[in-house]
This record gives sequence, structure tokens and C-alpha cells, in this order.
Amino acid sequence: MNPLIKIEDLTFGYDNAPILEKINLEIFERDFVGIIGPNGGGKTTLLKILLGFLKPDSGSVSILGRSPDSVSKFIGYVPQYSEMDKQFPIKVKDVILMGLCESSSFSPRFSQKSYSKVYEVMELLKIRDLAEKKFGELSGGQKQRTLICRAIVSNPKMLFLDEPTASVDAAIEEDIYKILSDFNSDITILLVSHDVGFISNYVNRVACINRSLVIHPVNEISSEHALTHAYHENTSVIHHKCGL
Ligand SMILES: Nc1ncnc2c1ncn2[C@@H]1O[C@H](COP(=O)(O)OP(=O)(O)OP(=O)(O)O)[C@@H](O)[C@H]1O
Ligand SMILES: [Mg+2]
Repeated sequence: MNPLIKIEDLTFGYDNAPILEKINLEIFERDFVGIIGPNGGGKTTLLKILLGFLKPDSGSVSILGRSPDSVSKFIGYVPQYSEMDKQFPIKVKDVILMGLCESSSFSPRFSQKSYSKVYEVMELLKIRDLAEKKFGELSGGQKQRTLICRAIVSNPKMLFLDEPTASVDAAIEEDIYKILSDFNSDITILLVSHDVGFISNYVNRVACINRSLVIHPVNEISSEHALTHAYHENTSVIHHKCGL
């Protein structure tokens, strides 16, 4: 089976200091990979390289056999921090519509069909009733659902999420992961999270990143993490296991 994403000997640094070193990783169709690691370990940087926002210093990255910047229309992305100005009075339905910009023509004209698709994904994420609300007035969980809608509205092949549940409570977090699990029957997912215990119920592999990367099948993680959801306890075990 050909990998959807193939990373070979990737090295990257913003200035001179190396942030990612000799990363090798293959992601296959319908993988659901959890990405964990300490703050500053390079998780967001790796996603930005996969999205084509940053270029490797050495090594190679191919997605669907092509360079990352030529396949961005196949990727839905939920960034770690929302770039949306809280004061900007945009409605929830129009934040989601922005996810169709890239797949439209140079001068996008949104049709009724575009809004139908927007409402369809809002139903999926259970926020249909928020369509006319201002994005800045939503709760943290509602904002995250809106941003997930924006990422999936164009029917991407892959979904990259950078800590999508950082500001939500455990019940909403579980709800979001269950929805992602359903998507995973069609879409390949990379999910950055600090909740190792939580994600090991949903993902099939876990990548630990701390400058270098070690990937584990999920059963290697879950057997040792079944009783605890505390990040530090979990990572200390993983640090021990993979030496990162
Ligand atoms: N634009 C930038 N210019 C220079 N250094 C940067 C830039 N963005 C990130 N860094 C540095 O690169 C390192 C990795 O950052 P990155 O955001 O990838 O970490 P992370 O694993 O996503 O951390 P967190 O868990 O806190 O989100 C950090 O030391 C950070 O300070
Ligand atoms: Mg990050």
C-alpha cells in the first residue's frame, strides 16, 4: 500500500537551531494518528511543513505523491490558535463558508449549494442552531466545532487538527473525538493533543515528537495508560519507552 504522506529524513530549524531532526514517517489511508510531545517539541512546526507553509531544510515530504503546497485543497486544517479577531462581527455560517474559498474559483461566488453544504456540516457537528450567531460570542467548545466545520466543509481527504480540544471540558472533548472517529471511516486524521489517555481510545498510532519522532502502535500506549489520563504521568512513561 502506498502511503498518503511520506516524510524522509526531514530536518528543519527556524534560524540555526534545529527544531525537527531526521524525521521519518509514513501515513496511510484512514490512519488516525495522535501526535504528542512537550511544549516546543515541534508538533505545530511539523503540521506547518505538511501544509506547505514551511519548507524543510533537508529531507523530503510528499503528500499524494506531490509537494505539500500543491495538495492543500485536499487537506482540512484546524489551527492551534484561532486567527479570527474576536471583535470581527462575522457569523458562524460565514466562518464555515470560508472553508470553501480555496476550492472555488479566483473570485468566489457562493451559491445556495455552498450554504447547503455549510448547513450539512453544521448538522454533523450539532451546531446548526448557531448559524446566525457571531463567532466572537461563542463558547470555546462551540468555536472549536465551528473551526472543525470550516476544515471539513470542502470534503478533504486529510484532516490535521492542532489541539482542537485545548479549551473544552472532558464531555465535549469526548464528543469531538467521537465525531472525528466517525469521519475517520473516510478521512485520514492527524491530531495533536496533550491528552494521551483520551486519544488512545480513538487513534491507531501515536507519534511522540521532541525534535526527533518515534511512532508507536496504539496498543503499546493504551496498555500502560489505561488507568490514567494525566498528561505528565503518561508522557514520562513514553519518554522512558522511546527515549524522547
Ligand atoms: N515562527 C517561529 N520563529 C522562530 N521560532 C519558532 C517559530 N515558531 C515556533 N518556533 C520555535 O520552534 C519550537 C517548536 O515550536 P512548535 O510550535 O512547533 O512546538 P509545539 O510542539 O507545537 O509546542 P506546543 O505544545 O506548545 O504547541 C519552539 O522552540 C518555538 O519557540
Ligand atoms: Mg503547537
